Amino acid sequence: MTNEHITTTLQSIKAYAEQHHVPIMEDQGIDSLLQLLRDQQPKTVLEIGAAIGFSAIKVAEALPDCHIDTIERDDERFDKAVEFIKKAGLDNQIRIFHADALEFELKELGPSYDAIFIDAAKGQYDRFFEKYGLLLAEGGILYCDNMKMHGLAEQEISEVPKRKRTMIRNIKQFREKMMAHPDFDTSLLSAGDGIMVCKKK
Ligand SMILES: C[S@@+](CC[C@H](N)C(=O)[O-])C[C@H]1O[C@@H](n2cnc3c(N)ncnc32)[C@H](O)[C@@H]1O
Repeated sequence: MTNEHITTTLQSIKAYAEQHHVPIMEDQGIDSLLQLLRDQQPKTVLEIGAAIGFSAIKVAEALPDCHIDTIERDDERFDKAVEFIKKAGLDNQIRIFHADALEFELKELGPSYDAIFIDAAKGQYDRFFEKYGLLLAEGGILYCDNMKMHGLAEQEISEVPKRKRTMIRNIKQFREKMMAHPDFDTSLLSAGDGIMVCKKK
């Protein structure tokens, strides 16, 4: 399958995302993630939160020798992701699972990944980490998107709208936990909506 198929599929994905209000990574965020992954050169990536396949396809395009597993719980988004991945000709390189990642059986995956990318329910990152961090290879890197939450996670909690406080509190706590984690070297990049990079020692 040629790059042309990937390019036209990515255009269709962007149009669909805009029309159906599907949150996919912004250009600056995905470009920064791809740069980090090009530097790392993982052979295996696990993504939590595929949506309609945009970031998985971008990673597959940037790293043709890398295998990607990704998980999406929403029925409609999962179906669209399967369709787009096939249309891009990447169904040999990307495997997508239809499941709630918090209930998914780990034995379906792995055995381990060089990189794990979390881009799912924002208040649950610590739960995803506790479950999937086990699958990170030694020296592997965990990447977490939306660590700034469009600036909300940089404000005092009293300034955050009440309905978002639990989520923002969880993000702040997770950031602090990873910064202090003895088994990881962690840095917080301001690119896009804030990408946290945690390298397993
Ligand atoms: C921001 S979108 C992902 C965007 C995608 N990574 C991209 O840039 O193309 C987050 C997705 O995570 C999914 N999600 C949230 N919690 C999940 C869970 N527990 N298990 C699986 N998917 C989940 C949502 O349905 C949503 O489609």
